[in-house]
Amino acid sequence: MIQRRRCRRHVSTNHPIGVLNMSTSSEMTLPNFTRTEVEGRRVDASIGSCDPQTFWEKVAETRWGKYITAIEHRAIMHANSFFMKPTTALEVGCEGGRWTALLSSLGWDMICTDVDKSSLELCKKRIPDATCILVDPKEQRIPCESESIDMLLCIEVLPVVQADWFFTEALRTLRPGGALVLVVTNGYSLRRLGYQFMMMFTGKRKSSSLNPWLYKVPYGKWKDRLSTIGFEIVHEEGMCWLPFSRESNSLLVPPLTQLERYVGLRRFTKFSPWIAVVARKNSIANVFPTLLDTRI
Ligand SMILES: C[S@@+](CC[C@H](N)C(=O)[O-])C[C@H]1O[C@@H](n2cnc3c(N)ncnc32)[C@H](O)[C@@H]1O
Repeated sequence: MIQRRRCRRHVSTNHPIGVLNMSTSSEMTLPNFTRTEVEGRRVDASIGSCDPQTFWEKVAETRWGKYITAIEHRAIMHANSFFMKPTTALEVGCEGGRWTALLSSLGWDMICTDVDKSSLELCKKRIPDATCILVDPKEQRIPCESESIDMLLCIEVLPVVQADWFFTEALRTLRPGGALVLVVTNGYSLRRLGYQFMMMFTGKRKSSSLNPWLYKVPYGKWKDRLSTIGFEIVHEEGMCWLPFSRESNSLLVPPLTQLERYVGLRRFTKFSPWIAVVARKNSIANVFPTLLDTRI
């Protein structure tokens, strides 16, 4: 059992949808997460669940899922390394709570949101000390006070990470020097063309069958906006160059993704289909709010 310290809370209680019942205990038992093998190495942190229950947790157990998980894990650990002492972090779109569990195990007080009630309940069950907030998909506010968090995660939550409001809210809620950890898709990528072609080929021509958020914004444009608003990108890793499906369990995934790494494709983020990004809020970012134009 891991001893936890008392959480400091920075949550607005007047949230439109609601906060799930919070644990009153200052101690908690972390869920029984197993160590997971990623890219051929055993990792100590709890990045995969022993009992994957949600759709995305099951996807993360596939070979392709583990490859993506490893890159996301690296970005989160990179952001974590900036802080001598963990404080409060917020995860947007926590689902079953795999990343919330990781950060919680590293000592962060966690606030997490999701639009899906059952996922959020599972997250709360696994990490009772986390503050879990059910949000409306149309919500354009991060449910915490200004400059109250040091890390903000938005991993594979495309409707949020590409939304204009997210930039201003990230700027508002993070303290100076705070870290953003994000996963974005790139409108300037071959995978986008492949996705559109596949949809046509399989007869799914109707726009309703296309995920409107997938590959919506060119990464260069998105990145420029992030820099303009007052964030410095400190870590980028491209991924998903190979044409495997999101749920692929092919034996070819490990050797070919190693090859992707060795030939340096992960550094070629301009045209990379997916990118894991860590950015830090500049200390002067809030000084010139009139310069901010967050539309992309
Ligand atoms: C692909 S899953 C990723 C889950 C988690 N971040 C991870 O990496 O394991 C996307 C999650 O975002 C949630 N989501 C979608 N739109 C959201 C929004 N506007 N606010 C918060 N969560 C959202 C979904 O319900 C889902 O649980």
